[in-house]
Amino acid sequence: MRQTSEGSDRIVPHGTLTKYYGSDSERSRYLRDLFDQGSVHYDAINELLSFGTGLRYRKDALKRSGLSEGMRVLDVATGTGGVARAAAKVTGERGGVVGLDPSIGMLIESRRRSPSPATQAFGEALPFRDAAFNFISMGYALRHLPDLLAAFSEYLRVLQPGGRVLILEITPPRRRLAYWMLRIYMNNIIPFLVHMGTHSGAARTMMEYYWDTTANCVPPDTILSAMTRAGFVDVKRTMTLGIFSEYSGARP
Ligand SMILES: C[S@@+](CC[C@H](N)C(=O)[O-])C[C@H]1O[C@@H](n2cnc3c(N)ncnc32)[C@H](O)[C@@H]1O
Repeated sequence: MRQTSEGSDRIVPHGTLTKYYGSDSERSRYLRDLFDQGSVHYDAINELLSFGTGLRYRKDALKRSGLSEGMRVLDVATGTGGVARAAAKVTGERGGVVGLDPSIGMLIESRRRSPSPATQAFGEALPFRDAAFNFISMGYALRHLPDLLAAFSEYLRVLQPGGRVLILEITPPRRRLAYWMLRIYMNNIIPFLVHMGTHSGAARTMMEYYWDTTANCVPPDTILSAMTRAGFVDVKRTMTLGIFSEYSGARP
């Protein structure tokens, strides 16, 4: 069932992708298995995919949206910890970063790279008390949430008043040529190279899934509207290099 209209109680980022799973009730288990199996290859793939948006881009984006020294950060969908490590460089020793992800494979990879605390949980049901954090980040995972409104309401709940959220995501370009070039790169070239380099079917599928969810994702206005409906203020989107969207907002 796809409920993306602004008046409905749920905002689902994309419709059912039957190429990968039979029904929406199977989606979360499918995703956990996919990311568990692909986790060992994720960082190498990310280098290929990032067009220079590695740690440096993540750190700059965090600073642009208000992250500073001493803050307490929750990094939702932390994966192998790319955003969390960038955040820790900004918050320093006086602050702290907690990672969260449903995939145990991703959390193990994250742990191999950093001793920062990490929790196995879903973004839409956070196991933290109210107002526990000054800042929430989420990198390239919005498409995997089952309901944007539920997740954003949780982010608001665990943020202190004045706390900020930053969501990084890829948005396909509007111009036809740029769209097709990105499509060929993400849907054909990257999965092919990933399969050649890793010999992993899961890693290849993870990349095909990346494009299919990106291409089918609700438009930026729906994401901004979901943030506003959840209760965020100062909600905005900034773009870098024509495809990297940074959605940010604050708890009143
Ligand atoms: C593409 S990775 C992003 C990793 C990292 N944030 C980065 O910037 O490289 C997407 C992550 O979202 C996680 N994920 C999937 N469903 C989720 C959910 N409902 N809540 C939180 N994280 C989820 C996956 O397990 C995976 O680790």
